[in-house]
Amino acid sequence: MHEIVVGRRKEDLKDYGIKCSGYIGKHIVGEREEAHLTNQIVLDLLRPHVMLICGKRGTGKSYSAGVIMEEIALLPEEYRKNLTAVVIDTMGIYWSTKIPNEQQVVELDKWGLKPTGLKDRVKVYVPFEQKKSFEDANIPIDFGISIAPHEFSGEDWALAFNLPMTNPIAVALQKTVNKLNDRGEKFQINDLMSEITDGRSIDTQTKSTLESMLSVASQWGVFGEEGIKIEEIMKPGTVNVFDVSRLRATEAWSVRNLLVALISRKIYEQRVIARKQEELAKMGEIELKNRKPMVWLFIDEAHQFIPADTVTVSTGPLLTIVKQGREPGISFIPMTQMPNKIHPEVVSQCDIVISHRLTSRDDLKALHSVMQTYLAEDMWKYIDSLPKWMGTAIILDDNSERIYTVQMRPRLSWHAGEAAIAVNV
Ligand SMILES: Nc1ncnc2c1ncn2[C@@H]1O[C@H](COP(=O)(O)OP(=O)(O)OP(=O)(O)O)[C@@H](O)[C@H]1O
Ligand SMILES: [Mg+2]
Repeated sequence: MHEIVVGRRKEDLKDYGIKCSGYIGKHIVGEREEAHLTNQIVLDLLRPHVMLICGKRGTGKSYSAGVIMEEIALLPEEYRKNLTAVVIDTMGIYWSTKIPNEQQVVELDKWGLKPTGLKDRVKVYVPFEQKKSFEDANIPIDFGISIAPHEFSGEDWALAFNLPMTNPIAVALQKTVNKLNDRGEKFQINDLMSEITDGRSIDTQTKSTLESMLSVASQWGVFGEEGIKIEEIMKPGTVNVFDVSRLRATEAWSVRNLLVALISRKIYEQRVIARKQEELAKMGEIELKNRKPMVWLFIDEAHQFIPADTVTVSTGPLLTIVKQGREPGISFIPMTQMPNKIHPEVVSQCDIVISHRLTSRDDLKALHSVMQTYLAEDMWKYIDSLPKWMGTAIILDDNSERIYTVQMRPRLSWHAGEAAIAVNV
């Protein structure tokens, strides 16, 4: 029986068949209770994609994203060495991909699959000041990370504090940060504070507001001298999980947004340079020693990082990846419960959508911009026809202009996102 290859170009199908693809599920034929599973569905991992994973709460988004991470980490070496996954984990659930899925052995067996942990192919990073609290909870952590204040522009800082750009506090902050950056100083928060305290053009009220904001920021537990060395992180064939789940509610989104801004900017810069080197090597001009892997960037709760209605510090860097990531080889996989809350540019740039059940037709309308060859009403019918099993979805594939109904396969590695139940396990 033939596999259905989602996201693969016709010419690639001729040249590569189903090589460098990932087994994600099976095609559902028939509706609701009459439905049964047929052909395998595999996902193209050869080229970059913008792929939205959506669906209402508890329908399998994080689980499905985990399936794709597994496929990347378990590709044959010749492909695996050219790819790396970066995961922004807001729920703290992907560390468990290190461990085999012994909780669904029966389910896996039905699919002819075996529990498989990704072990050291998964690296888990947490803000350095939280490393101990994760370890105390017996969560396997590989590294504590810090971000360096000087890696952000004045505008970034103002956005991180949710300040409108014209606000006098934002203006003073931007000027000071940009001044320090222009001097090429690798400043810390303390340096920024003293510069503000000494600033002659800043009034006392603004000074004291900024001082207290910065003193709160210095306690976020993420700022340090080192910063993130993306080239050390983007090791070929690995899944790099940034667990940002355990931040205090008051500051959580500022820190997460700053981190995502920084990581996505660095990924982009690194891949743009790498792409040039790959071209030069192809021309025979240079010899490529360490090929930098192409990146798959997964972001859970993506509407918080690149929302439809406001601008956050991560909006700009993520939009760059969405609009210009294909050439340098960056795939972007946002997950959200509400596709109409995510920046419309993200949805319109998608070439693949995996949509589990949705709550409202408004969300479906948002998806319609991806595949206008279908009527929104027809798309709704596909969703409506899905059997009520766990992990069913529709896949919109703009490459083949087709819609498929799919049962996502069970996870090989442990899924830690199970909803809590009120009995001891
Ligand atoms: N393909 C699948 N096969 C078997 N079980 C699945 C599958 N997909 C999801 N499930 C089950 O559904 C549960 C919920 O899935 P998941 O945690 O991915 O939901 P979600 O859409 O990310 O929810 P939320 O919006 O709350 O984050 C999982 O814990 C798992 O038990
Ligand atoms: Mg989830």
